[in-house]
Amino acid sequence: MSNIVIVGAQWGDEGKGKIVDLLTQYVDIVVRFQGGNNAGHTIVLKGEKFIFHLIPSGILYKDKKCIIGNGVVLDPGVLIEEITELKKKGYLKEDSQLMISEGTHLILPYHRRIDTAREKIFKIGTTGRGIGPAYEDKMARCGVRVIDLLDEGVFRRKLEENLSQKNLYLVQVLKERSFEVSEILEEYLNFGKQLKKYVKDTSLVLYEEIKKGKQILFEGAQGALLDVDHGTYPYVTSSNTVAGNACAGSGIGPTMIHSVMGVAKAYTTRVGEGPFPTELRDRVGDKIRERGGEFGSTTGRPRRCGWFDVVVVNHSIRINGIGQVAITKLDVLNDFEKIKICVGYRINGKVFHHVPSSIEMLNRSEPVYEELSGWKTEIKGTRDFSDLPQNAQRYLQRIEELIGTKITVISVGSERNETIVIRNPL
Ligand code: IMP
Repeated sequence: MSNIVIVGAQWGDEGKGKIVDLLTQYVDIVVRFQGGNNAGHTIVLKGEKFIFHLIPSGILYKDKKCIIGNGVVLDPGVLIEEITELKKKGYLKEDSQLMISEGTHLILPYHRRIDTAREKIFKIGTTGRGIGPAYEDKMARCGVRVIDLLDEGVFRRKLEENLSQKNLYLVQVLKERSFEVSEILEEYLNFGKQLKKYVKDTSLVLYEEIKKGKQILFEGAQGALLDVDHGTYPYVTSSNTVAGNACAGSGIGPTMIHSVMGVAKAYTTRVGEGPFPTELRDRVGDKIRERGGEFGSTTGRPRRCGWFDVVVVNHSIRINGIGQVAITKLDVLNDFEKIKICVGYRINGKVFHHVPSSIEMLNRSEPVYEELSGWKTEIKGTRDFSDLPQNAQRYLQRIEELIGTKITVISVGSERNETIVIRNPL
């Protein structure tokens, strides 16, 4: 038995969806444990593109189960759209393939309105999906959970209690429109009716399945540098994106997790505001963006692009306990004469090898680069490490040395089979 957590090792958008989809063949259940529909996990299967915001990326395997854990914040309307779309395409034929934790907190319309209104006051560059305000309510103990949706009396009471405060905040502080109970009540009760068949005590389900020897893959969303505790605070998301949260976010214990894989792009991207030491605001950055199709799969925003940052990935390795790394989108670098790797930050004349907690220091940091020669060759068809151009091999070997962690998977294209598996991650 071997249960694995897969997490983003940068600022999200590392291509976790593809890696999860690839590894699902070896496991029985895939679990999302944090985040919400701020995520957009892209999978390309036989030329068809799927973007999952809430449903775990393992759903394209008909015999595998998928769980939305209690640590997720769930926008039920978005989930229903995703389910409908999948069913139309011939997937999710058995309702038992998908389960939602009874304890998952809901995103309500006022969360979205608060999120977008606050962005006008202090811009973090959020996805505007109501993620932060929903997690705030969870911590303030006034959140509404999926199980509440299944009881009209409970849902109405919680909604009324919440609206009495949210409306004051919306109108008087944020100068926004208020909500009527009736605007939300019917729509959400209807969502509840549609989702009821998926709602389970998923912590119990996982416990029973693990006892039977079933293998679980925990699918992280966003990336380590967006973690609310260990990321570039306050330019982060509102959940713990690190592997440790796979436990709390799905209701299992740490002894049930056996390995952690980090996913990192062969370069770095970030969406939204916040420090990004290796950002390239020039033609090289534009070229990476164009070649990598670096536009948000949730919001369509152009992603900021830069070179691979060892300091960032080493930070992720430490806070996640990453034991192996998947490098994605190596093919995006096919057409560069020179490729740089950031090995440290120069701050006030001194070189640092860790991410400083102070955002002000991070903003002042200048990357210290090593420069390698590019390979100027198409590598999409490569399936063996030894068939990669020498310079591509050198690039990966240098990264491996600098991060002190084995690279076990290399993605050279968006299709499931456009992958070099050096060692089975499980
Ligand atoms: P929020 O999660 O919508 O509150 O956004 C907070 C920050 O996290 C913003 O900078 C977003 O761009 C970023 N973010 C949230 N989800 C993702 C993701 O899935 N990929 C990349 N960035 C994300």
